[in-house]
Amino acid sequence: MDPSPVARLVDSLAADIRQGVLPPGASLPTHRRLAACHGIAIASASKVYAQLKVMGLVVGETGRGTFVRDRAPQRDWDSGDEARLSAEAADLSFNHPSLPGQGELLRAMLRELAASGDLAALMHQQPPGGRLHERRIVADFLADTRGILVDPACVFLVNGAQHGLDTTTRGLLGPRDAVAVDALTYPGFKMLAALQNLALHPVAGAPDGPDLDALDTLCRRRRIAAIYTMPTLHNPVAWVLGADQRRRLVDIAQRHDCLLIEDASYAWLVQDAPPALVTLAPARTIHVSSLSKSLASGLRFGFVVVPPACAGRVKAAIRASCWSLPSVTTAMATRWMADGTVARQEAAMGHDAQARQRIAAEVLAGLDRVAHPSSLFVWLRLPEALRMDRIATALADRGIAVSRAEAYATTRHVPHALRLGLSSMPLAQLRPVLARLRDTIERFPV
Ligand SMILES: Cc1ncc(COP(=O)(O)O)c(C=O)c1O
Repeated sequence: MDPSPVARLVDSLAADIRQGVLPPGASLPTHRRLAACHGIAIASASKVYAQLKVMGLVVGETGRGTFVRDRAPQRDWDSGDEARLSAEAADLSFNHPSLPGQGELLRAMLRELAASGDLAALMHQQPPGGRLHERRIVADFLADTRGILVDPACVFLVNGAQHGLDTTTRGLLGPRDAVAVDALTYPGFKMLAALQNLALHPVAGAPDGPDLDALDTLCRRRRIAAIYTMPTLHNPVAWVLGADQRRRLVDIAQRHDCLLIEDASYAWLVQDAPPALVTLAPARTIHVSSLSKSLASGLRFGFVVVPPACAGRVKAAIRASCWSLPSVTTAMATRWMADGTVARQEAAMGHDAQARQRIAAEVLAGLDRVAHPSSLFVWLRLPEALRMDRIATALADRGIAVSRAEAYATTRHVPHALRLGLSSMPLAQLRPVLARLRDTIERFPV
């Protein structure tokens, strides 16, 4: 049977978009014009755009028109299966959370900035770590939303949490310095440690946190310069350390004179977590976070809180790496912090994360998973007979990108597990994608 005119036009536009003939951001004809050009009814033209929208190829906004969707972020696969993954593959490998209305938020902010008084100031380079009035806004935000009270002079603005981790370690540690890390930890920290020649010393994990006896023994046996830790929503195993564990961690750091690097990138997702380490041990804690997971990963806005004695070296490291942040980004992020947008967004993102976890719990019930009801990811341990690489490749062949355990492992013992980031795809797609994942695992020949 011949395809209908609507199906033919959908196929032809989809091919043009996928091949780049229609580049990201290209403006497509109005419904009326499309109908006239192809001799179809306006209702049929609307159907064409509706189908392209469902396929994730175009975005449309009432009154503004229809545009080719920019799918570039989804193509930055880092899973070892790049060659097998198309731009349309479902992304469970990264967390790029976003809520409907992000475009409107940005448009309104750009208008607000355009109408603001001293716009030319945003063409000036700001000092490394940011201007004091904007660092003060971040300090107020930390006080209001996290209960973290800090001197704005100890707050430095950075290009995301990764930049915060990289610059603080560069500024405060040296090559071959020993850093204690969890046996499973955030891959970005492994990456920067390798480039900076830091010596990572893994600490075994207990079910609910690091084995603190093992950490204490490690610190007794050799000089450990710093402990890298994610006390609230550990990536990938979602620990939230209790108050006693935090006190004990601080006590170990104090007895052995170690810096504590507290990565709080996901901490805002847990409302009732015990106090941050930076409030327990401000004189030895580097607290790192960003708006990447709560507002927009493309904003590249983060902040670090450092002990006063470390401020000079951290500032120098920021200056050496990038001088400072783009002034426009800083202005947008701090305005969103000051006017309550970030707090509202965090609340909405938190509900969204919980909805995604509920779906994951239903679809993956019975599989060996580790997750927190508020986290953005699931750690999925594979049955004994299944090998992580073969499953990841099979999933890539079925259009699903995942992260493998080896990216997180700091020991030679790599568990056969996958990390599933739940937040990069529209909520409606999550259930079918997880069902496909489960089906692939269950049917895999052993
Ligand atoms: C634990 C952890 N820390 C830091 C980062 C980096 O965040 P950003 O995008 O703000 O650089 C990530 C990103 O996934 C993360 O998972």
